[in-house]
Amino acid sequence: MQQKIPVAILGATGLVGQRLVQMLDGHPWFDVRVLAASDNSAGKKYGDAAKWHLGSDMPAFAREMVVQPCEPMDGVPLVFSALPSDVAGEIEVNFRKAGAIVSSNASSHRMDADVPLVISEVNPDHLELVRVQQANYHGAIVTNGNCSTIHLALALKPLADAFGLSRVIVTTMQALSGAGYPGVPSLDILDNVVPFIGGEEPKLEKEPRKILGKLEGGRVTDADFKISASCNRVATRDGHLEAVSVELKTKASLDDLRHALAQFRGQPQELRLPTAPEHPIVVRDEQDRPQPRLDRDVEKGMATVVGRLRACSVLDYKFTLLGHNTIRGAAGSTLLNAELLAAKGFVP
Ligand SMILES: NC(=O)c1ccc[n+]([C@@H]2O[C@H](COP(=O)([O-])OP(=O)(O)OC[C@H]3O[C@@H](n4cnc5c(N)ncnc54)[C@H](OP(=O)(O)O)[C@@H]3O)[C@@H](O)[C@H]2O)c1
Repeated sequence: MQQKIPVAILGATGLVGQRLVQMLDGHPWFDVRVLAASDNSAGKKYGDAAKWHLGSDMPAFAREMVVQPCEPMDGVPLVFSALPSDVAGEIEVNFRKAGAIVSSNASSHRMDADVPLVISEVNPDHLELVRVQQANYHGAIVTNGNCSTIHLALALKPLADAFGLSRVIVTTMQALSGAGYPGVPSLDILDNVVPFIGGEEPKLEKEPRKILGKLEGGRVTDADFKISASCNRVATRDGHLEAVSVELKTKASLDDLRHALAQFRGQPQELRLPTAPEHPIVVRDEQDRPQPRLDRDVEKGMATVVGRLRACSVLDYKFTLLGHNTIRGAAGSTLLNAELLAAKGFVP
């Protein structure tokens, strides 16, 4: 990049917004010019408006910035959205109309026919839909998947490419930070597991099929495998664990599966994007890994960790995967998508 691209973060005070602030601190290509949030925060200094939840200190660049309302602004061609889905829909459309590229964490537009649902390593070709939107609306919205979807789709991609997939069964154990702040009341989750997360199972059953689908004639045809999902909230802080069983279209050995997962690389690695993990999928062979506390920060939270690879007596194979939900499962994926968009010349 000759010159840094000015960017804004919508929902900058929330859990995902804070991750973006942290990950954009000193970014080689992007310069944070605007931090925006709700009317409760607008007009306050970010240091006063945001209750900082992350381990490291709030980045110095952000502390004195005055939080803005989420309204389109001049001179900011790239916008990260970490807004709740019930408000993101309209606000993101306003930014798109104003000509910005919006890299969104929210689910509002994920299933729109002309909006790409992208994991940079998995379906970078779907970004061509940005051109379709730019022709119709001036700007464009690009979404990432739900926090559990992103890690599941990353692990399914090499298997779908090498062997084909016909059925997938997934049971998630999702961390508390996935519910935003303050999230689940402590008395509901301490000493407990909650076997329901509103809206989560339909997302996990639909989104990976769009992500692994084919872009043909300006629209995505979903992949034809079926997914059955059961989602649970557990009392970990960060890192979603998922128990996955897969049925393949062609026969493969355990070694074939392990090889396909461990060797997987995508465009972010080829292009050496600043936030790309060296290994998007890390395979572990110990019988008791991955674990949230031990493995969520591998590759700075940008990888999916797969372990417990073994035969399944109902489908063909099963494994356990783990991924950081606010890094690769949210902020990190929108950032990698934005880097890919910038590298491919989509940002005006
Ligand atoms: N947490 C995760 O692991 C995760 C993973 C994947 C995707 N996501 C998605 O990412 C988005 C953000 O999640 P989160 O967990 O960061 O939520 P959060 O902690 O509740 O933060 C929400 C942010 O949106 C702002 N906001 C709320 N209402 C607004 C309004 N009416 N107008 C403008 N700004 C408003 C809040 O500002 P104030 O502080 O001023 O209220 C805050 O900055 C959601 O769509 C979520 O589904 C989250």
